[in-house]
Amino acid sequence: MSREIVLVGRALGAPSAERALGDLASRLAERLNAQLHLDVRIDTAMLDHGERSLHDALDGCLDSGADHVLVVPVQIPRDRYLETWTAKAIAHWRERGAARVAGARGAVPDVRIAAPVSQTAELVQALCAVVDGPSRAVTESPESFRSPSWSDLGEHRHHVLVCRGPRCSSHGSPAVADALGACLRDGPVGYDDVLVTNTGCLVPCNLGPIVVVQPDDVWYTSVDADAVRRIVDDHLAGGRVVEDLCTPRSRRSAPHETPVEEHHASVEPPGQRHQASMRPPEQHQASTVPTGQRHQASTVPPEQHHASMMSTPQENA
Ligand code: FES
Repeated sequence: MSREIVLVGRALGAPSAERALGDLASRLAERLNAQLHLDVRIDTAMLDHGERSLHDALDGCLDSGADHVLVVPVQIPRDRYLETWTAKAIAHWRERGAARVAGARGAVPDVRIAAPVSQTAELVQALCAVVDGPSRAVTESPESFRSPSWSDLGEHRHHVLVCRGPRCSSHGSPAVADALGACLRDGPVGYDDVLVTNTGCLVPCNLGPIVVVQPDDVWYTSVDADAVRRIVDDHLAGGRVVEDLCTPRSRRSAPHETPVEEHHASVEPPGQRHQASMRPPEQHQASTVPTGQRHQASTVPPEQHHASMMSTPQENA
């Protein structure tokens, strides 16, 4: 009988959380081995915002032929969202896993959920030890906290939202984010043209992974790595919406809302912005500052700026 353990947490846009969970898994494996002589494989996953989804980890357990898998929610303080969504994600995976093994060797492992770490009595004990333990003086400079970089709105032509919510993560958003990063590093447009933000759930989860391109208000659905390449080449670089990859939507306006065209007409010199807002993407691009100038104007290197949108100021410091 083979048994595996998956520690699952939430990255919330912080890559360091994944590394920390991996480190915890290694230490747990050492302890289980040394004290209990349990030789179990321990993997890690993130419910959302991570590089490795819970589905990826459970697929790994299936491939390695595990009979039993214990999923341990690891989040402090208690995160009920993690607990309830972990259960839902496992239920979804179990159905998909059954389809994967149908007719093939093996069976879907029995996947169970452990009590959340946050609810253990030992956690309070650990906090007592910390409160009673050594502390350090704060010697950091406040400069990085209020760096001028954090006032820069940027001049990006497009703002791309990549949903990293729990369902999109299950549907493959980690691979989508990877592919987008690779395209922006090596492709026809880069981070000085495109601002990328990983988001939580954008609502139409069943159509995930979701990628939204603003200001064009184009919602790409069921996106995979190939789709990302087309979105970058055709839409972000070429100015042509990839019609077969997007799902059209209608926008509702508030009763008091001034129609966009009227608003523009009232605040802009005659015609100028109104025209811009109605232009197709390729013309709209042409009206913005050329890439080279935009880059020079920016006080933050593109990678740094991108990184700043993907994580917290503290992590970039
Ligand atoms: S998780 Fe992506 S739309 Fe809900």
